[in-house]
Amino acid sequence: MKTRNYLLTRLKAKRNQWISGEAIGESLSISRTAVWKAIGKLREQGYDIRSSPRKGYCLVTSPDHLVPSEILSGLQTTVLGKGEIIYLPKMESTNARARELAAQGAPEGTLVVADSQTLGRGRLGRTWFSPQGTGIYASLILRPPLPPDKGPRITFVTAVAAAEAFVSTAPLNIRIKWPNDILIHDRKVAGILTEMGSDPDRIHYMVVGIGINVHQKTFPKELKKTATSLFMETKKRTSRVALLQTFLDRMEHWYGVLKREGFEPVLQRWKELADMEGRMIRVRMPDKEMAGQVEGIDSEGVLLLKDEAGQIQRILSGDVLFAQEKE
Ligand code: BTN
Repeated sequence: MKTRNYLLTRLKAKRNQWISGEAIGESLSISRTAVWKAIGKLREQGYDIRSSPRKGYCLVTSPDHLVPSEILSGLQTTVLGKGEIIYLPKMESTNARARELAAQGAPEGTLVVADSQTLGRGRLGRTWFSPQGTGIYASLILRPPLPPDKGPRITFVTAVAAAEAFVSTAPLNIRIKWPNDILIHDRKVAGILTEMGSDPDRIHYMVVGIGINVHQKTFPKELKKTATSLFMETKKRTSRVALLQTFLDRMEHWYGVLKREGFEPVLQRWKELADMEGRMIRVRMPDKEMAGQVEGIDSEGVLLLKDEAGQIQRILSGDVLFAQEKE
Protein backbone atom coordinates (compact mmCIF):
# COMPACT_ATOMS: atom_id res chain seq x y z
CA MET A 1 0.00 0.00 0.00
CA LYS A 2 2.81 2.41 0.93
CA THR A 3 4.63 1.68 -2.37
CA ARG A 4 1.47 2.40 -4.29
CA ASN A 5 0.96 5.72 -2.46
CA TYR A 6 4.54 6.84 -3.13
CA LEU A 7 4.22 5.78 -6.75
CA LEU A 8 1.00 7.73 -7.08
CA THR A 9 2.54 10.83 -5.53
CA ARG A 10 5.39 10.64 -8.09
CA LEU A 11 3.04 10.12 -11.01
CA LYS A 12 0.78 12.96 -9.87
CA ALA A 13 3.73 15.33 -9.49
CA LYS A 14 4.38 14.78 -13.20
CA ARG A 15 0.84 14.34 -14.47
CA ASN A 16 0.72 14.01 -18.28
CA GLN A 17 4.49 13.54 -18.42
CA TRP A 18 6.49 10.36 -18.85
CA ILE A 19 8.60 8.91 -16.03
CA SER A 20 10.81 5.91 -16.67
CA GLY A 21 10.10 2.68 -14.79
CA GLU A 22 13.78 2.53 -13.87
CA ALA A 23 13.76 5.99 -12.26
CA ILE A 24 10.62 5.14 -10.28
CA GLY A 25 12.11 1.79 -9.20
CA GLU A 26 15.33 3.46 -8.05
CA SER A 27 13.62 6.23 -6.09
CA LEU A 28 11.36 3.74 -4.31
CA SER A 29 14.09 1.05 -4.02
CA ILE A 30 11.96 -1.56 -5.75
CA SER A 31 12.42 -3.65 -8.92
CA ARG A 32 10.91 -2.71 -12.27
CA THR A 33 8.63 -5.74 -11.94
CA ALA A 34 7.36 -4.41 -8.60
CA VAL A 35 6.71 -1.04 -10.28
CA TRP A 36 4.77 -2.80 -13.03
CA LYS A 37 2.67 -4.69 -10.46
CA ALA A 38 1.88 -1.51 -8.51
CA ILE A 39 0.88 0.23 -11.76
CA GLY A 40 -1.48 -2.69 -12.47
CA LYS A 41 -3.15 -2.25 -9.05
CA LEU A 42 -3.61 1.48 -9.66
CA ARG A 43 -5.17 0.79 -13.04
CA GLU A 44 -7.60 -1.61 -11.34
CA GLN A 45 -8.65 1.29 -9.09
CA GLY A 46 -9.47 3.41 -12.14
CA TYR A 47 -6.26 5.39 -12.77
CA ASP A 48 -5.60 5.90 -16.46
CA ILE A 49 -1.85 5.27 -16.72
CA ARG A 50 -0.25 4.96 -20.15
CA SER A 51 2.87 2.85 -20.57
CA SER A 52 5.54 2.73 -23.24
CA PRO A 53 8.54 0.38 -23.33
CA ARG A 54 10.88 3.29 -24.11
CA LYS A 55 9.33 6.18 -22.16
CA GLY A 56 7.94 4.50 -19.03
CA TYR A 57 4.66 5.56 -17.43
CA CYS A 58 2.40 8.58 -17.68
CA LEU A 59 -0.65 9.35 -15.45
CA VAL A 60 -3.44 10.83 -17.54
CA THR A 61 -6.47 10.87 -15.23
CA SER A 62 -7.30 9.87 -11.66
CA PRO A 63 -10.69 8.41 -10.73
CA ASP A 64 -13.07 10.37 -8.52
CA HIS A 65 -13.16 7.37 -6.23
CA LEU A 66 -13.13 7.83 -2.49
CA VAL A 67 -10.39 5.21 -2.14
CA PRO A 68 -7.72 5.74 0.54
CA SER A 69 -4.90 6.43 -1.96
CA GLU A 70 -6.87 9.28 -3.53
CA ILE A 71 -8.05 10.74 -0.23
CA LEU A 72 -4.51 10.69 1.17
CA SER A 73 -2.84 12.20 -1.84
CA GLY A 74 -2.92 15.95 -1.25
CA LEU A 75 -4.71 15.77 2.13
CA GLN A 76 -3.51 18.74 4.19
CA THR A 77 -4.56 17.59 7.67
CA THR A 78 -2.32 16.32 10.46
CA VAL A 79 -4.66 13.92 12.26
CA LEU A 80 -8.09 13.66 10.62
CA GLY A 81 -7.97 11.04 7.87
CA LYS A 82 -4.23 10.64 8.33
CA GLY A 83 -4.41 7.42 10.36
CA GLU A 84 -6.39 4.52 9.04
CA ILE A 85 -8.94 4.98 6.27
CA ILE A 86 -11.40 2.13 5.97
CA TYR A 87 -13.02 2.04 2.55
CA LEU A 88 -15.51 -0.37 1.03
CA PRO A 89 -17.56 0.02 -2.17
CA LYS A 90 -20.65 -0.99 -0.16
CA MET A 91 -21.38 -0.83 3.56
CA GLU A 92 -24.54 -0.97 5.63
CA SER A 93 -23.64 2.31 7.33
CA THR A 94 -20.29 4.05 7.77
CA ASN A 95 -21.50 5.34 11.16
CA ALA A 96 -22.30 1.82 12.34
CA ARG A 97 -18.86 0.59 11.23
CA ALA A 98 -17.10 3.59 12.80
CA ARG A 99 -18.90 2.99 16.10
CA GLU A 100 -17.70 -0.62 16.16
CA LEU A 101 -14.14 0.50 15.47
CA ALA A 102 -14.31 3.28 18.05
CA ALA A 103 -15.59 0.85 20.69
CA GLN A 104 -12.60 -1.38 19.87
CA GLY A 105 -10.22 1.53 20.49
CA ALA A 106 -9.60 2.99 17.01
CA PRO A 107 -7.74 6.30 17.40
CA GLU A 108 -9.02 9.81 16.79
CA GLY A 109 -8.92 10.68 13.11
CA THR A 110 -9.88 7.21 11.84
CA LEU A 111 -12.05 7.64 8.75
CA VAL A 112 -14.64 5.21 7.36
CA VAL A 113 -15.82 5.77 3.79
CA ALA A 114 -18.19 3.91 1.48
CA ASP A 115 -19.19 4.37 -2.13
CA SER A 116 -22.73 3.27 -1.25
CA GLN A 117 -24.71 2.37 1.87
CA THR A 118 -27.49 -0.15 2.20
CA LEU A 119 -28.69 1.10 5.59
CA GLY A 120 -27.44 4.70 5.71
CA ARG A 121 -28.66 6.25 8.95
CA GLY A 122 -30.24 9.68 9.18
CA ARG A 123 -31.26 11.81 12.16
CA LEU A 124 -34.35 10.96 14.20
CA GLY A 125 -34.34 7.33 13.06
CA ARG A 126 -34.60 8.12 9.35
CA THR A 127 -32.58 6.53 6.54
CA TRP A 128 -30.09 8.33 4.31
CA PHE A 129 -30.40 7.82 0.56
CA SER A 130 -26.94 6.51 -0.41
CA PRO A 131 -26.75 5.36 -4.04
CA GLN A 132 -23.45 4.16 -5.47
CA GLY A 133 -20.90 6.53 -7.00
CA THR A 134 -22.92 9.70 -6.44
CA GLY A 135 -22.37 10.96 -2.91
CA ILE A 136 -19.94 11.19 -0.05
CA TYR A 137 -20.74 8.84 2.82
CA ALA A 138 -18.09 9.21 5.49
CA SER A 139 -17.69 8.87 9.25
CA LEU A 140 -14.91 10.20 11.39
CA ILE A 141 -13.90 9.05 14.87
CA LEU A 142 -13.16 11.83 17.36
CA ARG A 143 -12.25 11.62 21.03
CA PRO A 144 -13.04 15.10 22.33
CA PRO A 145 -11.99 15.85 25.90
CA LEU A 146 -15.52 16.88 26.88
CA PRO A 147 -18.29 15.71 29.21
CA PRO A 148 -21.27 14.11 27.39
CA ASP A 149 -23.57 17.13 27.76
CA LYS A 150 -21.12 19.13 25.62
CA GLY A 151 -21.22 16.51 22.83
CA PRO A 152 -23.61 18.60 20.67
CA ARG A 153 -20.77 21.13 20.23
CA ILE A 154 -19.16 18.64 17.84
CA THR A 155 -22.27 18.78 15.70
CA PHE A 156 -21.85 22.55 15.35
CA VAL A 157 -18.15 22.17 14.54
CA THR A 158 -19.09 19.70 11.80
CA ALA A 159 -21.79 21.92 10.31
CA VAL A 160 -19.39 24.88 10.12
CA ALA A 161 -16.67 22.71 8.54
CA ALA A 162 -19.09 21.28 5.97
CA ALA A 163 -20.53 24.69 5.06
CA GLU A 164 -17.04 26.17 4.62
CA ALA A 165 -15.99 23.21 2.49
CA PHE A 166 -18.95 23.83 0.16
CA VAL A 167 -18.29 27.55 -0.06
CA SER A 168 -14.66 26.99 -1.00
CA THR A 169 -15.71 24.53 -3.73
CA ALA A 170 -18.12 26.80 -5.61
CA PRO A 171 -19.81 30.18 -5.05
CA LEU A 172 -22.92 28.61 -3.57
CA ASN A 173 -25.76 30.07 -1.56
CA ILE A 174 -25.11 27.78 1.41
CA ARG A 175 -27.01 27.99 4.66
CA ILE A 176 -26.97 25.88 7.78
CA LYS A 177 -30.36 24.94 9.15
CA TRP A 178 -30.40 24.28 12.90
CA PRO A 179 -28.83 22.19 14.11
CA ASN A 180 -26.80 20.79 11.26
CA ASP A 181 -28.49 20.44 7.87
CA ILE A 182 -26.67 22.08 4.99
CA LEU A 183 -29.03 23.74 2.53
CA ILE A 184 -28.74 25.35 -0.86
CA HIS A 185 -31.80 27.40 -1.80
CA ASP A 186 -33.63 25.83 1.15
CA ARG A 187 -33.01 22.28 -0.12
CA LYS A 188 -30.84 19.83 1.73
CA VAL A 189 -27.49 19.02 0.13
CA ALA A 190 -25.84 17.41 3.16
CA GLY A 191 -26.78 15.90 6.50
CA ILE A 192 -24.76 15.23 9.61
CA LEU A 193 -25.31 12.50 12.18
CA THR A 194 -23.17 12.50 15.31
CA GLU A 195 -23.27 9.49 17.61
CA MET A 196 -21.56 9.16 20.94
CA GLY A 197 -20.12 6.55 23.30
CA SER A 198 -19.68 7.88 26.84
CA ASP A 199 -19.89 7.27 30.56
CA PRO A 200 -21.61 9.79 32.85
CA ASP A 201 -18.74 12.26 33.00
CA ARG A 202 -16.62 11.63 29.91
CA ILE A 203 -17.07 11.15 26.18
CA HIS A 204 -15.18 8.07 25.00
CA TYR A 205 -15.75 8.67 21.33
CA MET A 206 -17.88 10.60 18.91
CA VAL A 207 -18.64 9.36 15.43
CA VAL A 208 -19.29 12.22 13.05
CA GLY A 209 -21.13 10.97 9.97
CA ILE A 210 -21.64 13.16 6.95
CA GLY A 211 -23.66 12.44 3.84
CA ILE A 212 -23.24 14.82 0.88
CA ASN A 213 -25.29 14.73 -2.31
CA VAL A 214 -22.72 15.36 -5.04
CA HIS A 215 -23.49 13.90 -8.47
CA GLN A 216 -27.20 13.05 -8.14
CA LYS A 217 -29.26 14.21 -11.12
CA THR A 218 -32.57 13.30 -9.52
CA PHE A 219 -34.03 11.98 -6.25
CA PRO A 220 -36.76 9.50 -5.34
CA LYS A 221 -40.26 10.97 -5.22
CA GLU A 222 -40.31 11.42 -1.44
CA LEU A 223 -37.12 13.53 -1.51
CA LYS A 224 -37.70 15.49 -4.72
CA LYS A 225 -39.03 18.64 -3.05
CA THR A 226 -36.57 18.79 -0.19
CA ALA A 227 -33.22 17.47 -1.51
CA THR A 228 -30.66 18.80 -3.92
CA SER A 229 -27.15 17.91 -5.07
CA LEU A 230 -24.09 19.91 -6.01
CA PHE A 231 -24.55 18.84 -9.61
CA MET A 232 -28.16 20.04 -9.66
CA GLU A 233 -27.09 23.41 -8.24
CA THR A 234 -23.94 24.04 -10.29
CA LYS A 235 -24.52 21.92 -13.42
CA LYS A 236 -20.89 20.91 -13.01
CA ARG A 237 -19.12 17.83 -11.71
CA THR A 238 -17.49 18.42 -8.35
CA SER A 239 -14.64 16.15 -7.30
CA ARG A 240 -15.82 14.09 -4.35
CA VAL A 241 -12.23 13.48 -3.33
CA ALA A 242 -11.35 17.19 -3.27
CA LEU A 243 -14.55 18.05 -1.39
CA LEU A 244 -13.92 15.40 1.27
CA GLN A 245 -10.32 16.59 1.64
CA THR A 246 -11.47 20.19 2.12
CA PHE A 247 -14.11 19.08 4.63
CA LEU A 248 -11.46 17.19 6.65
CA ASP A 249 -9.21 20.23 6.53
CA ARG A 250 -11.94 22.60 7.77
CA MET A 251 -13.00 20.03 10.37
CA GLU A 252 -9.49 19.83 11.77
CA HIS A 253 -9.33 23.62 11.86
CA TRP A 254 -12.62 24.13 13.73
CA TYR A 255 -12.08 21.15 16.04
CA GLY A 256 -8.76 22.75 16.95
CA VAL A 257 -10.49 26.08 17.60
CA LEU A 258 -13.00 24.33 19.88
CA LYS A 259 -10.22 22.66 21.86
CA ARG A 260 -8.02 25.76 22.16
CA GLU A 261 -10.55 28.58 22.44
CA GLY A 262 -13.81 26.96 23.48
CA PHE A 263 -17.26 26.93 21.84
CA GLU A 264 -17.86 30.68 21.46
CA PRO A 265 -15.91 31.26 18.18
CA VAL A 266 -17.43 28.10 16.67
CA LEU A 267 -20.95 29.25 17.53
CA GLN A 268 -20.17 32.72 16.17
CA ARG A 269 -19.15 31.25 12.81
CA TRP A 270 -22.14 28.91 12.84
CA LYS A 271 -24.48 31.90 13.30
CA GLU A 272 -22.91 33.69 10.31
CA LEU A 273 -23.49 30.62 8.17
CA ALA A 274 -26.95 29.84 9.49
CA ASP A 275 -28.94 33.07 9.47
CA MET A 276 -31.79 31.59 11.54
CA GLU A 277 -32.68 34.54 13.74
CA GLY A 278 -36.11 36.05 13.18
CA ARG A 279 -37.28 33.28 10.87
CA MET A 280 -40.77 31.84 11.23
CA ILE A 281 -40.45 28.10 11.68
CA ARG A 282 -42.16 24.93 12.78
CA VAL A 283 -40.26 22.38 14.84
CA ARG A 284 -41.14 18.72 14.82
CA MET A 285 -40.18 16.76 17.88
CA PRO A 286 -40.90 13.08 18.52
CA ASP A 287 -43.94 13.87 20.70
CA LYS A 288 -45.16 17.28 19.50
CA GLU A 289 -44.87 20.08 16.98
CA MET A 290 -44.37 23.77 17.73
CA ALA A 291 -44.52 26.92 15.61
CA GLY A 292 -43.03 30.34 16.19
CA GLN A 293 -40.22 32.77 15.50
CA VAL A 294 -36.55 32.06 16.12
CA GLU A 295 -35.49 34.30 18.99
CA GLY A 296 -31.89 33.11 18.91
CA ILE A 297 -29.49 30.32 19.75
CA ASP A 298 -28.13 30.15 23.30
CA SER A 299 -24.48 29.75 24.27
CA GLU A 300 -24.73 25.92 24.00
CA GLY A 301 -26.52 25.91 20.65
CA VAL A 302 -30.03 25.37 22.05
CA LEU A 303 -32.71 26.84 19.77
CA LEU A 304 -34.82 29.56 21.43
CA LEU A 305 -38.25 29.73 19.89
CA LYS A 306 -40.84 32.40 20.66
CA ASP A 307 -44.05 30.37 20.44
CA GLU A 308 -47.49 31.60 19.39
CA ALA A 309 -48.26 32.61 23.01
CA GLY A 310 -45.08 34.73 23.14
CA GLN A 311 -43.28 32.27 25.46
CA ILE A 312 -39.64 31.40 24.85
CA GLN A 313 -39.23 27.65 24.39
CA ARG A 314 -35.83 25.94 24.60
CA ILE A 315 -35.56 23.30 21.88
CA LEU A 316 -32.81 20.71 22.33
CA SER A 317 -33.48 18.60 19.26
CA GLY A 318 -36.00 18.38 16.49
CA ASP A 319 -36.64 18.95 12.85
CA VAL A 320 -36.97 22.55 11.67
CA LEU A 321 -39.24 23.48 8.78
CA PHE A 322 -39.22 27.03 7.48
CA ALA A 323 -42.68 28.54 7.41
CA GLN A 324 -42.76 28.95 3.63
CA GLU A 325 -41.46 25.42 3.12
CA LYS A 326 -43.85 23.06 1.35
CA GLU A 327 -43.86 19.38 2.21
C1 BTN B 1 -29.51 13.54 8.51
O1 BTN B 1 -30.54 12.90 8.72
O2 BTN B 1 -29.56 14.69 8.07
C2 BTN B 1 -28.16 12.94 8.78
C3 BTN B 1 -27.68 12.10 7.64
C4 BTN B 1 -26.30 11.51 7.86
C5 BTN B 1 -25.93 10.55 6.77
C6 BTN B 1 -24.51 10.09 6.87
S1 BTN B 1 -23.99 9.22 5.43
C7 BTN B 1 -22.54 8.73 6.23
C8 BTN B 1 -22.89 8.42 7.67
N1 BTN B 1 -23.27 7.03 7.81
C9 BTN B 1 -24.55 6.90 8.11
O3 BTN B 1 -25.15 5.82 8.25
N2 BTN B 1 -25.13 8.11 8.22
C10 BTN B 1 -24.17 9.18 8.02
